[in-house]
Amino acid sequence: MAGQHEAEEDVARLSGAAAGAEAARLRLAVAQANEAYHRRDTPEISDAQYDALKRRLLAIERQFPALALPDSPTRAVGAAPAEGFAKVTHAQPMLSLENAFEAEEVAEFEARVRKFLGLDAAAPLAFTAEPKIDGLSLSLRYEGGRLVQAATRGDGAVGENVTENVAHIRDIPQQLTGAPEVLEVRGEVYMSHADFSALNARAAAAGDKIFANPRNAAAGSLRQLDARITAARPLRFFAYAWGAVSEPLGTTQSAAIARLSALGFATNPQTTRCEGLQAMLAAYRTLEAQRATLGYDIDGVVYKVDDLALQRRLGFRSTTPRWAIAHKFPAELAWTRLEKIEIQVGRTGALSPVARLAPVTVGGVVVSNATLHNEDYIAGRDATGAPIRQGRDLREGDWVQVYRAGDVIPKVADVDLSRRDGASQPYVFPKVCPECGSDAIREPGDAVRRCSGGLACPAQAVEKLKHFVSRAAFDIEGLGAKQIEAFFREGWLREPADIFTLREKYGAELALRDGWGERSAQNLFAAIEQRRRVPLARLIFALGIRHVGESAAATLATHYGTWDAFLAAVRSADDPDGAAWPELLSIDGIGEVTARSLVSALNHSSDRAAVENLMAEIAAEPAAPRAADSAISGLTVVFTGTLERMTRAEAKARAEALGAKVAGSVSARTDILVAGPGAGSKAKKAAELGVRVIDEDAWLTLAGAP
Ligand code: IVH
Repeated sequence: MAGQHEAEEDVARLSGAAAGAEAARLRLAVAQANEAYHRRDTPEISDAQYDALKRRLLAIERQFPALALPDSPTRAVGAAPAEGFAKVTHAQPMLSLENAFEAEEVAEFEARVRKFLGLDAAAPLAFTAEPKIDGLSLSLRYEGGRLVQAATRGDGAVGENVTENVAHIRDIPQQLTGAPEVLEVRGEVYMSHADFSALNARAAAAGDKIFANPRNAAAGSLRQLDARITAARPLRFFAYAWGAVSEPLGTTQSAAIARLSALGFATNPQTTRCEGLQAMLAAYRTLEAQRATLGYDIDGVVYKVDDLALQRRLGFRSTTPRWAIAHKFPAELAWTRLEKIEIQVGRTGALSPVARLAPVTVGGVVVSNATLHNEDYIAGRDATGAPIRQGRDLREGDWVQVYRAGDVIPKVADVDLSRRDGASQPYVFPKVCPECGSDAIREPGDAVRRCSGGLACPAQAVEKLKHFVSRAAFDIEGLGAKQIEAFFREGWLREPADIFTLREKYGAELALRDGWGERSAQNLFAAIEQRRRVPLARLIFALGIRHVGESAAATLATHYGTWDAFLAAVRSADDPDGAAWPELLSIDGIGEVTARSLVSALNHSSDRAAVENLMAEIAAEPAAPRAADSAISGLTVVFTGTLERMTRAEAKARAEALGAKVAGSVSARTDILVAGPGAGSKAKKAAELGVRVIDEDAWLTLAGAP
């Protein structure tokens, strides 16, 4: 076996692409060896071979630091073995789509696109309409025509490396001719109905696991650590989008897809080009009628603006493009018995009623729980007091109609009064928290009743912790809901900061616990150590502040850049007359409700102390400005007067995409005022404060004309 020195010399001769592919293979090999050794207790390679694999990987990572992923087996602390797939950071994030359920929402989308672009109702505007494939998305990276990496979507920013696993999917070419030097093809992996039935029949005969639906079967088959299992499963792939490309694929969506098809990818034959809303809705009806005979699952139609120059101008919100929308098919329905109504207390103290149902299959999935939203929903009225279900209430023992749309939690749509037991009683919603006995209070204007116990309520505390470690937040491997509950019961964890002192305080005890052991305890602590630095957006999301979801957290992180700047701003925003409050409100996507919730959580509540304790243990990685190298990155810009070359919305989105902040009013912190004709008091104030004032043309030069 080559020594360290020789290995490094040899590695220096690898091309970047070859190194990436080899590192991926090595990580997989190490992961498989770990799996065999630790999970199945049946080592497949000798210790010396294992060491050689790790040494080679380390040599590659030294030579190509970009390949040294934070979770690489070479970095494992305390001899934690690498588990599962290697992580892949997507060169361009893999986004999701906004959903529409009704034709009106599609009409609103179309109108919004027009308004953003400044197109009147008569101007031509074409969209593509294509089936929304119900599978899992995949990004394929080709360099010099060769497939070098395949990655799942993961959380959109970081996915899993499944390069080995896609080698046998016949719709995925390993080699392309005439492709751009760099080409990331994105699309959906799925399983056809026929292949799904055959797979389940084989599994049933062999006494193996049966999959609930083709989507689960596709996901389960692709995400096999043993690539040989994937190879034996019939997976398919439709290409419908792209990520990084070294040269454009075309000038329209349709042309780009045609190019992918010419390169050898399977593209969906049902895709059509639609001029206007009526054509889009007609395409939807056609696909809905074809749905049962396509031979694979689709759950809606995706509309995309056809002209790629317009797509570029429209750009992205934090997690979805402005130029596309998914029009979902109506949810599937089923009748069953509502056996019991139970109350769950969430991390913000909300008392959420849950229906326990007699299990029933809805759209291929067995459903036994459904959300009942809040007390008004059970009583048959909405937040304004207007009747829903024509005022029919829901009672334990009732026959109810449940539905599910996509991945959302099942809901109760209706109740059959003719089957109601005469002795049944209306449901009485509790006025105290079922978990801690504190008063459960309903504030005027709030549809939800909340426990007033704060972090003293065990349910709130434990739910906050579960949220903190969840996938989109700290995502600590080996610390899931089950472990949080157990550690909470022990009294080891009360607030997030306790996670980071767990090793010091209870490390020795944990290793002696049932189901644990020295190695698994070390693995957990290594995973925790890795999260002492987290991206700012994850940290903000992890705090579990009401109304601050993943998308608002991402927006806040990009706007403020660092934790200190964010915290200082939210603390100052407590003063409604200061500059920080309007700045917070001026951020696209942060409304007044979210802003108030942030200010109150970080200034007044029991969260404040918990946040301070946490920050004594960890650090946040600053968020990269969206485009660090633009001329306006980091500047604060205000627009006033009439803009003639683009709408206000487009100007704002563009400035933000280039890393600038857009404020609503001029202050000493304004860097540039873009003044169109008719600018009034803002221009005057800018002159007084010595703020740079430019016209729209100068602005376009600065921001690079679209
Ligand atoms: S386009 C930037 N087209 O739907 C937009 N997505 O709900 C990229 N999906 O994560 C997505 N069929 O997994 C697009 N024809 C289609 C699709 C499609 C299925 C999935 C995709 C995406 C999810 C969003």
